[in-house]
Amino acid sequence: MLLKYLDKMSITVVAEDSVLYESPYWGQHGVSFLIEAWRANIKKNILVDVGQNHEALLHNMKLLDINPEILDAIVLTHCHYDHTLGIVDLLKVIGKSDFPIVAHPGLFRLNFIDNPYLRHVGVMQEDSRDKIEANGGALYLTTDPLQIMPGLVTTGEVERQTDFEEVGIALKTITDNNKIIEDRMNDDISLVANFKDKGMVIVTGCSHAGIVNIVKQTIEMTGVKKIRSIIGGLHLVEAPMERIKKTVEALAGFDIDSIMAGHCTGFKAQVELHSHFQEKFLPLQTGMKFDF
Ligand SMILES: [Fe+2]
Ligand SMILES: [Fe+2]
Repeated sequence: MLLKYLDKMSITVVAEDSVLYESPYWGQHGVSFLIEAWRANIKKNILVDVGQNHEALLHNMKLLDINPEILDAIVLTHCHYDHTLGIVDLLKVIGKSDFPIVAHPGLFRLNFIDNPYLRHVGVMQEDSRDKIEANGGALYLTTDPLQIMPGLVTTGEVERQTDFEEVGIALKTITDNNKIIEDRMNDDISLVANFKDKGMVIVTGCSHAGIVNIVKQTIEMTGVKKIRSIIGGLHLVEAPMERIKKTVEALAGFDIDSIMAGHCTGFKAQVELHSHFQEKFLPLQTGMKFDF
């Protein structure tokens, strides 16, 4: 795929697990990023994930001077409630029809844990497909990369290539013939922006596909080797040290300018990333803004 270029882009962390000292923003377990993308004379505003608490999301948007009505599309990186809960409430505030919601076709499946107890952790009933559509959402569900605008594209379903990366949580689903199987989180997608001579910015939700797999696929998909930035969750929070070390080692083998990781990345992985990438690494905080 020949990926065109954005002229510029800003990413604002609208929701995240942590907030800075004396910050007025509300934290929550979940992420949401506002992507402002400019190309030629067009500016588009895309929200990547919606967190799990739309009150906190809207509170932060108000402080950040972001009117939800400016949004042009939402990308949902995967089904988990900490990325999707309250999307219908948000659509009501956005108040548009034929409003694009981009995700993988597996988004609405049953996705559950049984420890500490049986619980669905995917898209909740209040955000069902029907309710999304009834509130103006137009679903673009595809396993393929989807171009939001030239220079800004989703990864589509990510091929598992490494032997050390895994989903990171014991998730299950039930097949069409009623069998309980491990849920591989095939719906995990990321958003990729490309810039002339400066490389790509990869925005992830939880990286359940494995961040190294995501980077590999992005490079293969675009032919671009330079990574300007990786922003999002890396889901290494419960990963053994061996996997964390292999991940950081593999990331060090790519040409990466910066990594801003938070949410489900986990303290141990953040420490390991910082000790390797030094000032090129930054833990994510609610309210941060990055200009590219
Ligand atoms: Fe998450
Ligand atoms: Fe997740």
